[in-house]
Amino acid sequence: MRNKELEQTLALIKPDALKNSLTGYVLSQLSEFHTGLIYAGAKVVHVTRMLAEVHYEEHLDKVFYPSLIEYITGHVHYAEKPHRQRVIAIVYQGPDAVKRVRDVSGPTNPHTAREQKPGCIRSLGTIVTLKDDTGKEIGERMDNLIHASATDDEAEREIKLWFKPNEIPPSMRAYSTLRSEELYYFKDEKLLAKFEPGSVCVVAPGDVMWKSDLEALRLIQKGEEASCSLRTVVAKYLLNEGTEGH
Ligand code: GTP
Ligand code: MG
Repeated sequence: MRNKELEQTLALIKPDALKNSLTGYVLSQLSEFHTGLIYAGAKVVHVTRMLAEVHYEEHLDKVFYPSLIEYITGHVHYAEKPHRQRVIAIVYQGPDAVKRVRDVSGPTNPHTAREQKPGCIRSLGTIVTLKDDTGKEIGERMDNLIHASATDDEAEREIKLWFKPNEIPPSMRAYSTLRSEELYYFKDEKLLAKFEPGSVCVVAPGDVMWKSDLEALRLIQKGEEASCSLRTVVAKYLLNEGTEGH
């Protein structure tokens, strides 16, 4: 990101923040008055397993990974209320966006946050001990209210993962886009050029896409290696579609 004014970052208000009515608090901590940042995009998302897994793929091998997926998909805080399983995803824009949102969020571990940075958002989080069926302790889960991109590269990956270009006003888009001439569908982890019953249309001719996404789809279609996985591109197109199988 060369233009500092256009620097963007992704913030997620996680299910524990929603459950504890801390949404307003988080938004006000991140407001333009406090951070100098402005909104470039915002939406309510029912997080699919696919999106959660791609978002946190760097943690795939960690012991806390399964509980992290349960947490971000809302299954922990709204186990009995699927209609409330959601997060609020926001793109913030402005000078030092990545660093500013990370600073206000604070350390990952809520206990550390309370010790080292009282008053930061994550100082209001909690740590939950995880037990197996016999009651034996098998680890812990960090409920820390907010996600914030850690670097410029992570912000680019995450904004493209969660948002379609047309969910961000054209003059605020930080990454290159292309208008597709192709038609692509998705079904059973495969990219299709033609509709099949049960498939979801991810892009139609005339749609504006992230350039890197369209380039990846073209390579995947040819059976060649792309810069990102098919799931990384399609996850956002399946959001709020009601296709829970994905
Ligand atoms: P995010 O903004 O959520 O990405 O947090 P982060 O960048 O501060 O931390 P990181 O990306 O390393 O971890 C992602 C999430 O995994 C954290 O928000 C925590 O919920 C969880 N997590 C990270 N490290 C640990 C750990 O050591 N133990 C446990 N139990 N959970 C962890
Ligand atoms: Mg992180």
